[in-house]
Amino acid sequence: MARLRKAAKIWAKPNARELAGQVMIADDGPVFAINPPAIFGRRAPLEIEIGAGKGEFIIERAGTRPEHDFLAIELSAAVTRVLAVRCGRAGLENLRVARIDGRTLVNLLLADASVAAYHVYFPDPWPKGRHLKHRLFTPPFAAGIFRTLEPGGIAYIATDVREYAGEIFAMIEGAGFIRAAELAPGARQTGFARKYLAAGKAVYSASFRKPARATSPR
Ligand SMILES: C[S@@+](CC[C@H](N)C(=O)[O-])C[C@H]1O[C@@H](n2cnc3c(N)ncnc32)[C@H](O)[C@@H]1O
Repeated sequence: MARLRKAAKIWAKPNARELAGQVMIADDGPVFAINPPAIFGRRAPLEIEIGAGKGEFIIERAGTRPEHDFLAIELSAAVTRVLAVRCGRAGLENLRVARIDGRTLVNLLLADASVAAYHVYFPDPWPKGRHLKHRLFTPPFAAGIFRTLEPGGIAYIATDVREYAGEIFAMIEGAGFIRAAELAPGARQTGFARKYLAAGKAVYSASFRKPARATSPR
């Protein structure tokens, strides 16, 4: 509730909608599809953060990589608003925000081999058995990540839940990815990462590369 109250307060500020409007991709058309060259007005490697929260990581990363384009997506309407205001405030040409379920984006709205990197940090673990269906990671989702990444593209993942980490990493490898040596850059940088690390919690992170020779989805 405190989170929602804070989001409403930010949204009520005089220039909030204007700032958010600079980066929000409209979702009120008859068909909502993601066409990165149309959104960014150029062709550049695309990095997507799924469940970007308040954007601590992606704002910083987009600012330091102007040659890449960045899409921050969020499921929660309240969080998306805060994210959009913060991204709008950053004033970056290469950063956009959309409110969308990451599963819909990956499974239906992105073309094959259209993404250079995915970032997924601290996806909700939904620990109760009856809530497992809400989890982001499933084998079809992992297959969608594989399909939409370009050959050589990379998926960065972190979670604070050891069992979920094991399940996610197994699903990702099962989809055809090879574990990579790179550190997941958001694993120490997102809002939740900073909170967990400050509290002394363990963080489980890894990166996975789609083989450069992969031509079609498995
Ligand atoms: C635990 S928070 C982590 C936020 C951020 N990644 C961080 O590390 O600070 C998980 C976020 O994922 C979002 N989320 C949950 N399910 C999602 C989905 N299916 N698609 C997109 N975002 C989702 C939630 O709204 C929430 O903001």
